[in-house]
Amino acid sequence: MNAPDDDLSPHKPVMLDEVINFIKPGKGDIIVDATIGAGGHSCEILKRIQPDGLLIGIDKDAEILKMADRFLSKISDNYKLYQADFADLGCVLEKLKISKVNGILLDLGVSSLQLDSQDRGFSFNKEGPLDMRMDRTEGITAEDLLKRLSEREMADVFWKYGEERKSRRVARAIKHEQKKGVSINTTTQLAKIAEKALYVPGKYSKKRKIHPATRIFQALRIVVNDELKSLEQFLNDACGFLAGGSRIVVMSFHSLEDRLVKRAFCEGKNAALLEILTKKPLISCDSEIRENVRSRSAKLRAAERTYL
Ligand SMILES: C[S@@+](CC[C@H](N)C(=O)[O-])C[C@H]1O[C@@H](n2cnc3c(N)ncnc32)[C@H](O)[C@@H]1O
Repeated sequence: MNAPDDDLSPHKPVMLDEVINFIKPGKGDIIVDATIGAGGHSCEILKRIQPDGLLIGIDKDAEILKMADRFLSKISDNYKLYQADFADLGCVLEKLKISKVNGILLDLGVSSLQLDSQDRGFSFNKEGPLDMRMDRTEGITAEDLLKRLSEREMADVFWKYGEERKSRRVARAIKHEQKKGVSINTTTQLAKIAEKALYVPGKYSKKRKIHPATRIFQALRIVVNDELKSLEQFLNDACGFLAGGSRIVVMSFHSLEDRLVKRAFCEGKNAALLEILTKKPLISCDSEIRENVRSRSAKLRAAERTYL
C-alpha cells in the first residue's frame, strides 16, 4: 500500500463528529481504537487525550498499522499499536496490565486504503489477486476458498454472508469455469463471472443500486477473515473492559454485523451492564454520503457502561 505524503490520514473517517461526541475522549483517558486503520478517527482522539492519556490501536493489517504510526506520530507519542485481531482485545490489555479503559471504538470492514490497494484483492473494480486477507501472514485466500468449496457450500456462503438471493446461479457459474480448467485467481475475473451470472435483461438490471459482484465479494471477505466470529468474541468481552460511565461505539456496514451489535447491546442492557444511547442506529447525513460513498451503508450504535 502506498502512503500519501500529506500529514493527515488519507482515509476519510466515517461520522467522525458523532464518534467523538459519543466517546468524549478527554485529558488523561485510555481509549481503545480496535480497528485503527490509518488512524482517521484516532488522530482526533489522540489530540484530545493529551498530555497524559493513552491511545491503544489494534489492527489485523500490518501494512495499515505502519500508516497509522506515521500519522499519529505527528501528533504525540501517547499511543501503542498492536497487530492483532480485535477478538484478542483481552490479551492486548493484559500485556499492558490495563483492566479498564475509558472508551472503545470499532469501525468495521475494510478501509478505503485497503480497497484501493490493487494487490490486496478486496475490490471488484481493480484488477488484482483474489486474496482478501486482512492479515496476509495467515489463513487462506479467497482464491483458495473458491477452490475448496463445493458448489453447494459456495452457494450457502453467498446466501448466508452476502445475502445474495441468486447465490446458486453464481456458484454454478464459478464451478462451470473451474470444471473447464479455468483458474479463478483475479478480482476482475470473479467480478465478470458474477456479473454475467446475475445479469437480468431489461429495466431491472439498470435499477440495481450496487454492482452485481458486491454481495459475492462481501461474502468471501467475511469467510476469509472469519469476521463474524471475531465480532461476536469482541462484543462478548468489550463491555467487561469499560470503566463505569465510559462508552463503546460500533460502526457496522452490513446487516449481519449490525444484528450482532444490536443483540449484544440488548443483552448488556438486560444484564444492567449497558445503557443504550442510540435507540435506532445513526446513519450518515446526505452531505457526508456525497463526499464519502463508503459512509452510505454505515450504522453507528453506542452504549454506556453502567457503574455496576
Ligand atoms: C474501516 S477501517 C478503519 C478505519 C479507521 N477508523 C480510520 O478512520 O482510519 C477497518 C479496519 O479494521 C481492520 N480490521 C478488520 N477486522 C479486524 C479484526 N478482526 N481485527 C483487527 N482489525 C480488523 C481492517 O484491517 C481495517 O484497517
